[in-house]
Amino acid sequence: MDISNDFKMLNKSLIYFDSAATSFKPDCVVNSIVDYYTNYTANAHRGDYDISFTVDVKYEGTRNKVQKFINANRREEIVFTSGTTQSLNMIAKGFFEDYLNDGDEVLLTKAEHASNVLPWFEIKKDIKVKYIELDNGLVTLNNVIRSITPNTKVISLAHITNVLGDERPIKEITEYAHKHNILVVLDAAQSIPHIKVDVTDLDVDFMAFSGHKMCGPTGIGILYGKYELLEKLNPQNVGGGMNNEFESNMVFKYKKAPYKLEAGTPNIAGVIGLGSAIDYINSIGIDNIEEYVLNLRKYAISKMEELNNIEIYNKDIKASTIVFNVKGVHSQDTATYLNKKGICVRAGNHCAKILKDEIKVTNTCRMSIYFYNTKEDVDMLIKALDTDDILLKSLV
Ligand code: ALA
Repeated sequence: MDISNDFKMLNKSLIYFDSAATSFKPDCVVNSIVDYYTNYTANAHRGDYDISFTVDVKYEGTRNKVQKFINANRREEIVFTSGTTQSLNMIAKGFFEDYLNDGDEVLLTKAEHASNVLPWFEIKKDIKVKYIELDNGLVTLNNVIRSITPNTKVISLAHITNVLGDERPIKEITEYAHKHNILVVLDAAQSIPHIKVDVTDLDVDFMAFSGHKMCGPTGIGILYGKYELLEKLNPQNVGGGMNNEFESNMVFKYKKAPYKLEAGTPNIAGVIGLGSAIDYINSIGIDNIEEYVLNLRKYAISKMEELNNIEIYNKDIKASTIVFNVKGVHSQDTATYLNKKGICVRAGNHCAKILKDEIKVTNTCRMSIYFYNTKEDVDMLIKALDTDDILLKSLV
């Protein structure tokens, strides 16, 4: 695939290995946003004039694209949010705070991103957050089964984790969970850019993801929910656009989902940009993206292994990330050093602050690969990580 002309950011003299944090945006996405602001700026769902109709067609068109992209049953199961974090907060507060009773248990893992931990801590009921034991950092169905008790009411998991990059056996977990009346929430932030995510096949009850990791703009994301559950989701934001009527005597009626969940002027530019991102990803093919990334990662691992100063923590996991440290060097120092060479990696705990309990390392460098990275990018990284580099030697 030759996408080298699709991204202005690829013309910069830097090597970007931090796409798990956010991806580059192709020109087509940027242009679609500029087009909205330049040629048909208007609000959505409010105007009786041509450019407002155009906005509605584009806005609702993206809802259709998302529905198709994740294979949801109904377009009304797609809610526009600001991103994964907002989506997960919305369901924790707006659904599970009502749904759960004192003593109920929520199952997570210690490898979850903060956005799939903290919203559960905020539920104002006496619930218990429990962590599925991991097997070398990984979730297995058996371990899930072992963690379930009669009090377990919901399992909330990343589809692919943001550090180790492992994919969880969600379909099997959902199958088992549903037999025991347990709901399953999926954080698809890291999977949606890399693999086909089919909510009907996975049969998850809610799912959250962001646009910005899949070539879309920041500030736009999706909450998917089975419609009968979305109907029970209480809006946390109320205001214009989400109500059918309200009177001075406090009588009011909200719209049905998804509109009751999209109060106020929405992120129209973001929604339009997300639609373009989906078109772009579809034009390349998500399977091609997955294959390309895995091959490039294999190449990077083999080159890293030729160096004897690198410790890799997720070598045998099928992932788009490589989590590593230069032996004897703090991850932040490594990242700062690589920055001097024009190479961007993320260092630290990567917002998965309790993963340290499992992998026994607090700070790592994370190189995350996407389809616009090349072997040349990897070669530059390997050159920089070579023990012979005097600056690197001085950090050890
Ligand atoms: N969740 C993003 C990451 O893993 C920001 O870097």
